Amino acid sequence: MKKVGVAILGLGVVGGGTYKALTEHREFYKKNHGVDIVVESVLERNKERAASLGVERNAIAQNIGEICNNPQVDIVVEVLGGVEPAKSFVLAVLNAGKSVVTSNKELFCKYWHELEEAAKLNGCGLFYEATCVGGVPIIRSLLDTLQVNKITSLTGIVNSTTNYILTKMTDSGMTYKDALKKAQSLGYAEADPKMDVDGFDPVYKLSILSSLAFHTKVPYTKIYREGITEIDSTDLLYGKRLGYVLKLLAIGKNTDSGIEVRVHPALIKSTHPLAGVNDSYNAVYISGDCVEDVMLYGRGAGALPTASAIASDIIYFATHDNFNYTTFENTENADPATKFITDFKSAYYIRLQAYDMGAQTKAKSVLEKYGITAEPVIFENSGVKGVGTIIFVTDETSESNIHKAVEEINSCKGLVSVASLIRVCQ
Ligand code: HSE
Repeated sequence: MKKVGVAILGLGVVGGGTYKALTEHREFYKKNHGVDIVVESVLERNKERAASLGVERNAIAQNIGEICNNPQVDIVVEVLGGVEPAKSFVLAVLNAGKSVVTSNKELFCKYWHELEEAAKLNGCGLFYEATCVGGVPIIRSLLDTLQVNKITSLTGIVNSTTNYILTKMTDSGMTYKDALKKAQSLGYAEADPKMDVDGFDPVYKLSILSSLAFHTKVPYTKIYREGITEIDSTDLLYGKRLGYVLKLLAIGKNTDSGIEVRVHPALIKSTHPLAGVNDSYNAVYISGDCVEDVMLYGRGAGALPTASAIASDIIYFATHDNFNYTTFENTENADPATKFITDFKSAYYIRLQAYDMGAQTKAKSVLEKYGITAEPVIFENSGVKGVGTIIFVTDETSESNIHKAVEEINSCKGLVSVASLIRVCQ
């Protein structure tokens, strides 16, 4: 029986889950896939952590060089996170002729071009199913099954931490802080919560997914980014009343005018398939010219769901003779021929603070001045004389246009001001 030796760099939440999945499923893989997958080595400074997982002392490497020189190791799993030392370790391993599996979306998205070049040069495989959307087989689907399609758009909930936070705030009225703490304790959040709540993590994932979907490099620097830290729970409640759910969306579109990529909170109709994706679940909704619409759904984070993606890459490596690389030229920057749309179009939810009876008419006339059609959908008097809330939902308009209108509304001091502006995805 073919034997595949594995080394794991880092035994944190995901590394520990991977060790557990590989060791506990060893017989299952032998029986069903005809390969004996053996964890030969781990790189982990915390010896107690390694011991608690049942790793034998002699399987703990002292440094990356030991793993590079270990003839029993065929493939190395990098689950350290962050750029360094992960990048140096992965390059050393590839240059030692060993294939790599990574879950590290930041490293992968920023240095994919360099890692792929090293993998090609050394005839190694580079696998990254676990970089995006945890246990959901989205990478393999884009590479191996949906590749027959011209993919026109993908819209995803690709970050578990923020989806968990928004779900708890919407359904249980939990505060932002408490929901974040809970997400961290469940092992969903990145070490630095900024990566999740400020939208960096979904930007890295969207860069990888849209590059694969649109067959051209979509550098993360081209992606518009807005996180959830400014979300006011008032808008979650008004949204609910209007039949919307607030989600942090990653949106990629491939149109005749160019590629549009953005990560930001958005209100979606409660009947949209993504609206029911809650807690740490993630989903990606893809539209292709042959397949029409497909939605992949599952756990986007956590030890075992991510380990599932990693183990699937190892089995793929063990059962395939050739390695596939990207279909596009994997350069650091975008192909100069690729056009990116920055002034994208959207509908908007605008919550206005009204200080005078004339506020609604004034706001509507400013919106009309910029060609924006909008109807007030909620008008509420706060009980304090002369102060009320007006909510408009607009038709589609451009970002630049809505921002000009908002600026002009805000200049009407003492009459009306914009309290919230949230994109609405139809
Ligand atoms: N912090 C990430 C998330 C982990 O919450 O989705 C999985 O990529």
